Parts: sequence; structure tokens; C-alpha cells
Amino acid sequence: MLLEARDVAKAYRAGEQAYPVLGGVNLALREGEIVALLGRSGGGKSTLLRILAGLIPPDTGEVRFRGRKVEGPVAGMAMVFQTFALFPWLTVLENVALGLEARGVPRKERLRKAQEAIALIGLRGFAEALPKELSGGMKQRVGFARALVVEPEVLLLDEAFSALDPLTAEGLRGDFLDLWQAGRLSTRAVLMVTHNIEEAVAMADRALILQGSPARIGQEIPIPLPHPRDPNDPRFRALVDAIYEALTLREAVERRLEAELLRLPQAPVGALLSLAEAIARLGGQADLPLLAQEEGLEVDDLFPLLEALELLGFARVEKGDVALTPAGLAWAEAPLEGQKVMFAEHLLRRVPLLAWLHQDLLWRKRLPEEVVLARLEGHLPEPEARRVFAVIREWGRYAGLLGYDERSRVLYLPEAPNEDEASRGA
Ligand SMILES: Nc1ncnc2c1ncn2[C@@H]1O[C@H](COP(=O)(O)OP(=O)(O)O)[C@@H](O)[C@H]1O
Ligand SMILES: [Mg+2]
Repeated sequence: MLLEARDVAKAYRAGEQAYPVLGGVNLALREGEIVALLGRSGGGKSTLLRILAGLIPPDTGEVRFRGRKVEGPVAGMAMVFQTFALFPWLTVLENVALGLEARGVPRKERLRKAQEAIALIGLRGFAEALPKELSGGMKQRVGFARALVVEPEVLLLDEAFSALDPLTAEGLRGDFLDLWQAGRLSTRAVLMVTHNIEEAVAMADRALILQGSPARIGQEIPIPLPHPRDPNDPRFRALVDAIYEALTLREAVERRLEAELLRLPQAPVGALLSLAEAIARLGGQADLPLLAQEEGLEVDDLFPLLEALELLGFARVEKGDVALTPAGLAWAEAPLEGQKVMFAEHLLRRVPLLAWLHQDLLWRKRLPEEVVLARLEGHLPEPEARRVFAVIREWGRYAGLLGYDERSRVLYLPEAPNEDEASRGA
């Protein structure tokens, strides 16, 4: 076992908000294998590679390289990026030698090794060229040379072929595979991120599918085909289909989940509060028919309200009874301002749509209703999207998280106008 990730989790933070990207990733890379990592765009593939390489730390979990915990960049690993990331003012030779300089290799040896790597990857004769004199394919060959020159045991490829045109990509893939198979690389294992399924089946021994949000490894698909592989071979096609299905099926499930997340019950804040107060008066727990009677509602009318209280974490419904959570009880009994603040906290934590709108407003201050509706309509039928928008607008305004200008139909961040009003009032 060369490289291992154990329960690796990572969230990015923006202000108070955390955006979970990886949620407990486990994987192992063994000697002699090429493993492809696939998943939707924005799914956390690059984040995972950066963590594996020791470029950024995980929040929890750990990475082990040859059994030792990775706590920063490791000499035995190198990475090739999609954008070649070459220094434009350095020659090919100097770009390649740079990785060795950082490792304290003496100059003469640096140049010799860089020349070797350049020759190996098919750049002989270009050592003195500047990046701008090279085609995209040649630039990426420099990217490979720069990674290979440090003689890494593990090579991490982050969409290394996807900025190249198909023919160029195929050429470089073929050359790399030839070197790998001929045993001319010091590299013992390759982990390659790609969104190109054909590329995965052409190169890898198995494919891992990163799924979910936050992501984990959902599926592993072995690719037991001998090299050279023929893309027209029915077994090749069957594997492409299997991976395609794994990726898209999962996406359909995720889209459905997302729609569930966006669907909000029809529950005006006033009705929610009055219901929570009624339950509190009844001792924090109530029988549903009794509660309906108390509130002058049909039992059916209670459901969206109860659903909303559950969504917000203010109540739990079980076997015809509803009980307020400690937070729900505190909310029902808080003074007016405290109620607003608590409601805002629970909205941001428990209602992804609101967290998402609020985050967006922090960036761009104003958000036209039609933009939000268009996004909702990507997941919900149009009337449902309008209904959900009305609910979130009402909840957000009450909580002081959103403002809405009726005339221009625009959501805004309420602070600024409120301050204006306050200063006008003062
Ligand atoms: N440095 C960063 N700070 C904040 N968010 C980030 C950062 N890098 C990536 N993200 C976000 O994390 C998610 C995963 O990104 P990434 O790992 O690049 O996915 P992939 O490589 O699968 O496309 C995306 O939503 C992206 O916007
Ligand atoms: Mg990426």
C-alpha cells in the first residue's frame, strides 16, 4: 500500500458558513496500479488530490504515504495540473529543474536530471525554448517532465489531459502509458482525476466514483482489460457504459435530493409561532387532534406547519404527538427580538435554500427574483418554484436575513437599507 486516505473530511469556510466538500473519503493506492477518480464537476476531486499530496490539510481523518502520516508536501509525490502552470520567463529546462531546486539538489545534477526527464517525455531539442513557443501538448509535456524529474513514487494527475485537443491528449496518454508499461518510470502508482470516461477506461486498472455532497467514494469499478486497449472492443464499450451509468444515475439521485431540499412547506411565520406557543402552553407536548382543536385548525392544516417546525429543528412529530425540542421551547418563550434571532440561526443552519440565498447576497448585494426563480425551476415545477420563493421570502424577511423590494422584485441584503432608515429616523 503506497497511499491511503482514511475518513478524510474537508469543508471550505466563508465567514460563518462552512461548505462541506468531502465527507469521509477512504481510498487506497497500491503499488503497480493506475486508479482513475471520477465525479461531477465541483464534486471535490481537486480538493481530495490536494489533500493527498499534503498541499492542504484535511479537517478530520488522515492521509498516509508508505504508512507515514502526511502533514505537508511529501518528496515521494508529484502532481500534474490541468493548467500547465509553467513560469513564462523560464526555459523548458529551467521550468523542469525548478522542482529539484526546492529539494536542494546541486545545480549540475539538476540540469542532468531535467535533461533526462525532457528526453523521456519527448521534448528533446526544446530544452532552451520558452513556454510561449510551445503548443498546448508540448506545454503539458513540460508539466509531466517537471513532475517526473523528482522521481515520484506516486504521481497525481488532476485532469492532466483535459485542456488538450483530443488527438494531442491521445498522443500524450499513449506515450505516458508506454513509459509506464516499459517500466521506465520511477513512479509506482498513479491516481488520475478525469471527467473523461474513455480516458479512464483507456488507462486505469480501476475507477473510483466520488459521489454525494459532501462527497465520499461511492463505487469502485474494476477495469480488467489488457493493454493496448482498443476503444472499439465491446468490453471497453461495456465498461464505459457502466461508469457512465454510475455517474449519471447518481446525479439523478442527487438532483432528486436537491429538489427535496428545496421543497418548503406552506407555513407563514405567524402561524408557526402561534402553534409553537400553543404547544408550549400545553406543556411542550401535545396530541395532534387536541392541538388542532385548540388552534381552531383542521388536522390537515397542521401538517405543513408541523413539517416546517421539524425542518427548523423546533419540534418532533411522533405517533400522533408533537413535542417541542429544547430550541423550539426556547423559541416559543423568547421575547420578540430573540425569536427573530433564533429563527434566523435555525434558517441558516437547517434550510439550505436560505443559506444559499444569503451567501449569494453577501457577494452581490442584490438578487433579482427572476434569477432565483430560474434556479428553482431547474429543480421544481414552475408553480412550486413560485410557492417556495414566496415562503423563503417571508421567512427570510421576518428573520432579517433578506430584504425584498416589491417594485423592482429584487432581493437585497437588509443591513444597508435598515441602517439608512435608522439614520434617517435619527
Ligand atoms: N480554495 C477554495 N475555497 C473555497 N471553496 C473552494 C476552494 N476550492 C474549491 N472550492 C469549492 O469546493 C468544491 C469542490 O471543488 P473542487 O475540489 O475543485 O471540485 P472538482 O475538482 O471535483 O471540480 C466546489 O464547490 C468549489 O467551488
Ligand atoms: Mg478539479
